[in-house]
Amino acid sequence: MKAVVIDQFGHTENLHLVDRPIPQPEEDEVQIQILYTSVNPVDWKLCEGLLQGRLPHEFPITPGWDASGIVTEVGLNVKNLHVGDEVYAYCRKPIIHDGTYAEYICFDAENVALKPKNLSFAEAAAIPLVGLSAWQALFDTAKLKKGETILVQAGAGGVGSLAIALAKNTGARIYTTASKDHHEYVKNLGADVPIDYTSESFVDVLKKLEPHGIDVVLECIGGEVLKTSANVLKSGGRLVSILGQLDPKIAKKKNIDFSYLFVAPNGTQLQQIASLIEQERLPIPHIEEMTLDQAAEAHEKVRQGHTQGKIVLKIK
Ligand SMILES: NC(=O)c1ccc[n+]([C@@H]2O[C@H](COP(=O)([O-])OP(=O)(O)OC[C@H]3O[C@@H](n4cnc5c(N)ncnc54)[C@H](OP(=O)(O)O)[C@@H]3O)[C@@H](O)[C@H]2O)c1
Repeated sequence: MKAVVIDQFGHTENLHLVDRPIPQPEEDEVQIQILYTSVNPVDWKLCEGLLQGRLPHEFPITPGWDASGIVTEVGLNVKNLHVGDEVYAYCRKPIIHDGTYAEYICFDAENVALKPKNLSFAEAAAIPLVGLSAWQALFDTAKLKKGETILVQAGAGGVGSLAIALAKNTGARIYTTASKDHHEYVKNLGADVPIDYTSESFVDVLKKLEPHGIDVVLECIGGEVLKTSANVLKSGGRLVSILGQLDPKIAKKKNIDFSYLFVAPNGTQLQQIASLIEQERLPIPHIEEMTLDQAAEAHEKVRQGHTQGKIVLKIK
């Protein structure tokens, strides 16, 4: 099968197309013919070696963790899926070796879900990693409730897009940071108040509009922005980061609850997201379509950090 690989850590020029054997499913796995994958920032970080020490790596490495496609084989124990099912999944495995920038992958059937019927394969591939990140941050971790206030940092990005859509569906009031060019986009997803972080301080804006502080921040940027985000929460507020740790002394001083999340595969949650999409209760992110042989170019674009929504790669 055709697959993109890297043979060593480094920059985008290391990504190249090769032929790899088609993988065969274990008892609990399905084999998926991948029609589309999507590019997440973690893909270029992985290729540069930034995940070393966190997960084991085995070269040659095919990057990519998102897939949409068709089930082509099922393992002996698989009951929930059948050959021919149209599926989508966040395919992160315990060892980084065979990802989704390829024509086939085998993955745990329980973490694969039927793709939303009203989405194309291109649209569906954009959802799994960012959808699960947003779901697990808002619901499993922050336990966001109707009527609460939330700040979604980087609302126009992949995780931000899904977080805004899911928070809106919950009935929360949503503030989000995005450059002016992306304000119309985040409003269409459901944001109530976009804040142009390039010309105003989100802390000043929120101090004026929510003087007692807000309930939840979903932090997707890290560094100074993570530290500053602690300043907009009310006492007892919840700060969830997907990019770095907060000094526990800051959390204690401000009496806020801090959590760091590393998104996990979850087929049940993907099925719940699919159901919301099918009921047209969840707007989907904007997608830009490229092809597998443009993987290096796509990494370079995502690396710039200003993607609106998601970039997806057509495999076939
Ligand atoms: N821990 C986990 O499990 C996990 C899961 C998913 C993602 N992540 C990480 O979380 C980060 C976000 O992921 P993503 O997929 O959403 O990234 P992304 O799609 O590449 O995010 C791009 C967006 O970030 C916005 N942005 C850049 N700088 C900003 C700033 N200072 N303030 C506000 N917005 C800003 C840009 O908006 P403008 O163009 O308007 O500036 C752009 O729309 C990445 O670093 C990723 O690796 C971690």
